[in-house]
Amino acid sequence: MTRKFFVGGNFKLNPASLAASTSLIEGLNKAELDPETEVVIAPPSIYLIPVKESVRKDVKVAAQNCYFKESGAFTGEISPKQLVDAGIPYVVLGHSERRTLFHETSALVATKTRAAIDAGLKVILCIGETLQEREADKTAEVCQSQLKEVVDVLKEADWSNIVIAYEPVWAIGTGKVATTAQAQQAHADVRSYIAKAVSPAVANDIQILYGGSVTAANSKELARQQDVDGFLVGGASLKPEFADIINARK
Ligand code: G3P
Repeated sequence: MTRKFFVGGNFKLNPASLAASTSLIEGLNKAELDPETEVVIAPPSIYLIPVKESVRKDVKVAAQNCYFKESGAFTGEISPKQLVDAGIPYVVLGHSERRTLFHETSALVATKTRAAIDAGLKVILCIGETLQEREADKTAEVCQSQLKEVVDVLKEADWSNIVIAYEPVWAIGTGKVATTAQAQQAHADVRSYIAKAVSPAVANDIQILYGGSVTAANSKELARQQDVDGFLVGGASLKPEFADIINARK
């Protein structure tokens, strides 16, 4: 199976108002997008329903996080079931900002991933190393340890609901995009780990996205890498150039 090109837009805590969110979606709705690219945007949770109701139908919507309980005394959380009930099909889990700022462990990310799939969500699963870990040549080891917790709680069939996003922490929001060689190597290592830990079939089919300072200027070359199946875009997803990134394979 050839892997479809997949581009996600992680808006993070942006835009700052519903009016700005509305005009961002109006801009995206007017853009000419490659029909061969799967597009998923992740607005702040407060805008999930208005964005789902206003965005063009060929763009899907993701939450940026969720909890693992269906309901109860968990102030501030959103449950996977509530997302499904609201018609939100995707959730981003394990983003490095959740891991560093909100102390999410790989074990918690795995528990959330299990609960999200059980509820019927598709998961964009984020992994990636810090600069210190890369400089210590531990990139593959770190990504594998982050993935192993999820491998241990999923069955082979569950992986058709997973998209992996490799996001080197040192490239996120810094303008220091990974080189094509760095991205290709990291993606190839993730794919060969999945082949061993899950199955060669899953490894062949799973989409592995690159995230970290992706722009219109660098996306075409990155998109040409054999194991780069798309992007998870932060800052540039809030700009008109997001359409160029979606069209990177055109
Ligand atoms: O989830 C994507 C994000 O972490 C990448 O951010 O701004 O470097 O594209 P940015």
